[in-house]
Order: sequence, then structure tokens, then C-alpha cells
Amino acid sequence: MNASEGWQRLESRLEAIDRRVRSLESDPSRRNSFIPYIVDRDSPYTNVDGQYPDHDGQPLLMMSGYSYLGLGGDERVVEAAKAAVEQYGTGTHGVRALAGSIPLHRELEAELARLLGREEALAFGSGYAANVGTIGALCGPGDTILIDKIDHASIVDGCQLSGAKVTRFRHNDPGHLDRRLQDSDDSGLRLVIVDSVYSMDGDIAPLPQLREVCDRHGALLMVDEAHALGVIGRSGLGIEDHFDYEHLVDIKLGTLSKGIPATGGWVVGSSRLIQHLKYAARPFLFSAALAPAQAGAALAALRILESEPERVTHIQNEAARLRAILNEAGLQTGLSETAVIPLIAGSDEGAYDLATACRKAGVIGIPVVSPAVPTSLARLRIAVTANHTKAHIDTAAEVFIKAARECNLIEA
Ligand SMILES: Cc1ncc(COP(=O)(O)O)c(C=O)c1O
Repeated sequence: MNASEGWQRLESRLEAIDRRVRSLESDPSRRNSFIPYIVDRDSPYTNVDGQYPDHDGQPLLMMSGYSYLGLGGDERVVEAAKAAVEQYGTGTHGVRALAGSIPLHRELEAELARLLGREEALAFGSGYAANVGTIGALCGPGDTILIDKIDHASIVDGCQLSGAKVTRFRHNDPGHLDRRLQDSDDSGLRLVIVDSVYSMDGDIAPLPQLREVCDRHGALLMVDEAHALGVIGRSGLGIEDHFDYEHLVDIKLGTLSKGIPATGGWVVGSSRLIQHLKYAARPFLFSAALAPAQAGAALAALRILESEPERVTHIQNEAARLRAILNEAGLQTGLSETAVIPLIAGSDEGAYDLATACRKAGVIGIPVVSPAVPTSLARLRIAVTANHTKAHIDTAAEVFIKAARECNLIEA
């Protein structure tokens, strides 16, 4: 054996990805992945100069961003990030448990706990790390984790790290969860995990029904609020706010990379739970602490979320309006009931065709294809943000409908 034999064994895997990229992005005008977008700080427009041979240099209207609250370029958030760098420098001195903690982490965690109605919070380096770390720290061999069929990949990876038995139940189906729990081993801990808002479909988990099923079987309930914080609920505080309950889940967790325009993740819960995670969540213990600029930006954005609830109302109203216009024209938006609106195109190639037609008309809608979504349900993943004015939404709707006609998805 030498290294070249190892590379030969890898070759078929490298070739599989290479073939897939070449088939979907067959010419430069069909590229959708890894485009360096130069985002305008004050508007949802973005520049892609030099990225497409057929592009005339005009800014494009971004309709697939994650920055729901529209705070990515907000002066207050940018200044808070700068102030954090001025005070604490660019990095941290390692992991939180050793020399990596700074007072800003504690401030951010106190704000998260207060705002989200729990005793304490813990900030992770990413939402991915928050899921993997929390699940890995709470469950082990002998336990059972029950996850929704389309839960986020970081939940799936956390389950693998834990070594627990994993069972999937049908998407948003409490009856099926009930049967799965009935059939599961009740000698260990049973943890049910759902996304509050599903990132590719934009529908909401049926929390009260899930809670009732969990209670009947003595199972704990954890939610991932990645696409819910800043998006659902009267105050934008997520799924409990949406269903008008103060405390309906056992473990609430989310990211600081979507509505909150930074990077990082969080978990909120009782002081005992947070203490356990501090000492047992591997991505928290063995990965560098959240960088000062990110903690500063996140803290500022959380304060704006609380003081400017009109941003949340705007997202909710405009998303409902966009969905209604698209549905009226015959476009399918799946199960969406939030800011995330899938434009279902069907085949993977069909989604790429639709994305290209939209871009040529000045709007970016990014395709999501299999295996991220089922093969015949490839889509453009559209997201409405607080930076989209009514006029932006009208423009986008017009472009989506025209492009869908060009691609024969709806009648002309
Ligand atoms: C539902 C969900 N959970 C977790 C994550 C991971 O968050 P982050 O990007 O902050 O690591 C994502 C990211 O896309 C997500 O959609």
C-alpha cells in the first residue's frame, strides 16, 4: 500500500461529486453555489460582478438570504461588533472552560436567557455545534431519540455522536410520534427533537400536540429555533411565542446566524441543564469560544429584536402577501406558513432552470435540490426579510411568476 492506492480508492467518491456539479452547473451562467455575493448593507440588493458571463453588472434582488430581521448591515450591530473587537481583540484565548471566556459571553447569555424566558443560556461557536453538543451531552447508548423525518442535519449528526438509538417519525405527525414512542424502549431517556420552523419548507411544528404526546410517554421535548427566532410569534421569540405559551418545551436551542446576523448558537434552560452542557457538550468543551465581534453583534441584534417588533410583523405580513400572490398565479409553495417560502420546481434541473430565469430578470432565488429535499420536490428557497419593502416583494413576485411561465411550471 502507498498513498496513490489510497487516492485510487477515493477516486470514485471524488468523481461522484464532480459529475453532479458538472451536470447541474453545466455552463457558467447556471452557477448557483459558492457565488461570492457582495451584499449591500442597507438594502436586499447584492452584486455579482464578474460571476456570470451574461450579467450586465446591475445589482440583483436577493430573495434567498437568511438574515430575516434585515440587521446584517445595521449601523448599531456593526458598531457593537467593532466595539467588541476594540475591547477584546479579534479572537478568544481558546475554549470557554479554559482561557476563552470574556464578559461579553456572559452578557450575551444573560440576555438570551431573559428574552427567551429561561434561567440560563449557553453560547456555542455555531448552531451546528449547539445541536451536536447538546444532543451528545444529553443522550447516550440505551437512550432513544425520536426525530422528525426532515429535521436539520446537525440534529442527525448530534444523534450519531450520542450513540443513542434513533427513530424517525413522519413529518409534523404527532400521531406517528405517538406510535413510535409506544413501540420504543422506555428503559432509557427518550428525547423528541423537532425544528420549530422547517428550513426548506417553512412550516411550523405542531407544538401543543407534540407536547401532549411527549407527556403521555414521559419523553423530553427539544426544539431547534434556527428559523423561528425573529420570525414567528408576536414578538418574534419563536415557537412558544407563536403558540402563546411561556414554557412548553424542555430544551430550546437555536443559532445566531439567521435572524440574528452573526455566527454562533445558543441553548436555554434550567441552571442545572446549562451546567451539565458546560461540562459535557463536546463542541463547547473542545472548540474555541465565540469570537468577540460575533458576541457583540448578536447582543446588539437581540436588543433590536426586542425594541423593534415591527420588523417581525413586517416579515410575517409580507411573507403571507407574497405566498398569496404566488399561489393565486398557480405556483406551488408547499406547506409554507412563515418567511421561508419554497417555490417548487420539480426536478433538480428544473429548479436550476427556474433560478437562471429569475436571475436573468434581476432576482436571486437559490435552488435547493436532492438530497437536501426529495428528488421530485427541488425548489427555490425564498425567504422574506425585514429589509424587503412592499415594492421589492411585488418585483420578486412578478419575476417568479414570469420565470415559472417561461419554465412551463404554470400556464402562460
Ligand atoms: C434548522 C437548523 N439548525 C441548525 C443550523 C446550523 O446553524 P449554524 O449555521 O449557525 O451552524 C441550521 C443552519 O442552516 C439550520 O437550518
